[in-house]
Amino acid sequence: MHLQEEQYRITIKCSRRLTVAADFCVIHRRMMRKPGLDYYSQIFRLLDRAFAPSGYESILVKNLRDNLKISFDFYIEEQGRVLAYVCYTTAYDTERTKIGYHLAPVAVLPEKQGQGFGHKILSESLKTIGNSLPVYVLGDPNYYSRFGFKKDRTQKCSFAPSGDHFMVISRGGPLPARDVGYEEEFMG
Ligand SMILES: CC(C)(COP(=O)(O)OP(=O)(O)OC[C@H]1O[C@@H](n2cnc3c(N)ncnc32)[C@H](O)[C@@H]1OP(=O)(O)O)[C@@H](O)C(=O)NCCC(=O)NCCS
Repeated sequence: MHLQEEQYRITIKCSRRLTVAADFCVIHRRMMRKPGLDYYSQIFRLLDRAFAPSGYESILVKNLRDNLKISFDFYIEEQGRVLAYVCYTTAYDTERTKIGYHLAPVAVLPEKQGQGFGHKILSESLKTIGNSLPVYVLGDPNYYSRFGFKKDRTQKCSFAPSGDHFMVISRGGPLPARDVGYEEEFMG
């Protein structure tokens, strides 16, 4: 069964380093607001369960949050329970100039997978973060191509030397060839 939009509230949190148009606004019958920090304990548990047995993703998001490196993150909540989460961080060139965003990680509670929550949080969040800068993702092309991500072998990622799983939504014309860097927290 696929998600019925009006049944769910999608909640947005933006890091303090960024200017947000509004902390609270209503879009298509969903409420978007800044969450309290208490939601992160649920988000860490969600990441641990979705990526089990890996604990890397929850530690990564905790470190990104603690170091104010999250550009945007989003979660879907149902009656106080976090069902899905996605995080966006800055992508850099070799000069450490900001060139876009990385989408990582994204996860849905295991018992809620396959019901459209992943699609919902990705499509809504990609719409919300705007159209100006490229967004990169490392993952399964069969899944991410649904959201407009394409392989572009001129964009090099040290985590994926073959380039088979590194994709981008360019949001403009062709991108200059370059090595795409991450926040240092990803190296840990
Ligand atoms: C990947 C994930 C976020 C997708 O969310 P979801 O709510 O389960 O996905 P949706 O219900 O929106 O979409 C389901 C479709 O995506 C496909 N799909 C789900 N996970 C996939 C994956 N890891 N790779 C490829 N396709 C995937 C399903 O086969 C299904 O295809 P169909 O529409 O043809 O039947 C979720 O399954 C998850 O949390 N997985 C564990 C963590 C993870 O692997 N995160 C991504 C790392 S790149």
